[in-house]
Amino acid sequence: MNVLVVGSGGREHVICYCAAKSAKTDKLYCTPGNAGIAEYAECEPIGAMEFDKIVAFAKEKEIDLVIVGMDDPLVGGLVDELEAAGIRTFGPRKNAAILEGSKAFSKDLMKKYHIPTAAYENFTDPKEALAYLETAKFPIVLKADGLALGKGVLICNDLEEAKEGVKTIMLDKKFGSAGNEMVIEEFMTGREVSVLSFVDGNTIKTMTSAQDHKRAGDGDTGLNTGGMGTFSPSPFYTKEVDEFCEKYIYQATVDAMKAEGRPFKGVIFFGLMLTEDGPKVLEYNARFGDPEAQVVLPRMKNDLIEVAEACIDGTLDQIDLQFEDNAAVCVVLASEGYPVAYEKGIPIHGLEEFKKHEGYYCFHAGTKLEGEQYVTNGGRVLGITAKGANLMEARANAYAAAEWVRFDNKYMRHDIGKAIDEA
Ligand code: AMP
Ligand code: GLY
Repeated sequence: MNVLVVGSGGREHVICYCAAKSAKTDKLYCTPGNAGIAEYAECEPIGAMEFDKIVAFAKEKEIDLVIVGMDDPLVGGLVDELEAAGIRTFGPRKNAAILEGSKAFSKDLMKKYHIPTAAYENFTDPKEALAYLETAKFPIVLKADGLALGKGVLICNDLEEAKEGVKTIMLDKKFGSAGNEMVIEEFMTGREVSVLSFVDGNTIKTMTSAQDHKRAGDGDTGLNTGGMGTFSPSPFYTKEVDEFCEKYIYQATVDAMKAEGRPFKGVIFFGLMLTEDGPKVLEYNARFGDPEAQVVLPRMKNDLIEVAEACIDGTLDQIDLQFEDNAAVCVVLASEGYPVAYEKGIPIHGLEEFKKHEGYYCFHAGTKLEGEQYVTNGGRVLGITAKGANLMEARANAYAAAEWVRFDNKYMRHDIGKAIDEA
C-alpha cells in the first residue's frame, strides 16, 4: 500500500515510524513532514490546511490510505475532501471532529447523554457571561469554544480575573473566532490522565493510559506549552478507574456521536480528571495526543495500518489490541525560551546514538536539515522516548538518553514522571 501521513510534529513522526514498520506499507509519504520523518517517508512541502494540494498529491501518488494526525485539518474537513475524491482516510469527518472543534458542542453532548464532566454553561453573549460570573464560585474555568492551540483555557481565581478572561476570549478575541462562544465550567481537582482510543463508528478499543506535563517549568510552573513530556502507563489509572470509564464514558461517547448522526471513526483522546467523585471528562480530542502518542504507540504490539483499516471498515471488534507489559517515558527537548521566544538554526549533535540502542527513540518535532547537519527549527525540538521494564526504569533511561543529545540552547523539564514516585 501507498500510505500518506498528514502533519509535521513528533506525533506524526511516531505515526510514520509505525507505518514504516507495517508489512502492509510499500511506500510512505508525509505532508509536510519534518527532518526526522524524512528518514522513512518521502516528505512533500504541502501545508496541512492546503486541502486541494493534499488531495491532488494523494491522487498523483496513488495513495491507498491517508492518516491525518493534526486537529486543524480534521476539524476543517480534510477527511471529507479526501473521501469525496475516493481516497481511504483514517480520521473523523468534519461532523464528528466537532467533538474537539467545539467545546460547547462536547459539553452539551456529555450533558445530554449523562457522561460525567464538570458542571458548565455556554455563552455567546459576553454580557450574559459577565452576569453569570457575579454569582459564581471560584476558582472557575473559562474555555474558548474553538481550537486555540491548547491555549484557550483560563483558570480564574476570582471575579476580577474572570471578568478579564471574558474580555480576553470574547471581546479582544485573543484566540480569534474560537472565542465567539465560551464555556464557563466548574473547577475540578484531581490527577489528570490521557486515554487514547481507536473507534470505528460503533466499537471502541482503548489504548494504554498516559500522562502529559503541560507547563513549561519544573513543578508544573510557568506557561502552558504543547506538552513537555509524558509517561505511560499512568499508575493512577487503576482497574477501578478503567471499569468506571468503560461503563460511563467510552462507549457512551461513541454511542452518543452515533445517535447524533455523527458517527466517529478515528482516534478519540479522552482527557480525564480523577476527582473525588470519580473520573470526569476534561476534554475530548479527535486525534492522537502529542506527546502522548510518543509513549503509547511504541508500546503497541499491533500493526498500526491494520488497526487504522479496521476503524475505516468497521471491523475493529475483530482486532485484539495489545500493549507491551512495560513502560515508556518521553522527555521533550525544547529551545530555551519556549513557548515565548527562542533562537533557531542551532546544530544538534548526538542523534546517531539512537541507532545503537534498542528501545530508545528520538522523535523530531522542530528540526531541519542543513546539508548533512540537523539544526533546531522550533520551540519543541525533539521528543526523547525510552522504554523500561517499569516506569522508574523508563524514566531513568529517557533522562540518560536526553543527555546523548546536545545543542546550545537545549531546555527540558527535569521532573517528567515525578508523580510516579507518589504512586
Ligand atoms: P483542556 O484543553 O480542556 O484539556 O484544558 C487544558 C488544561 O486546563 C487541562 O489539562 C487541565 O489541566 C485544565 N482544566 C481544564 N478544565 C478544567 C476544569 N474544569 N477544572 C480544572 N482544571 C481544568
Ligand atoms: N498532549 C495534549 C494534546 O495533544 O492535546
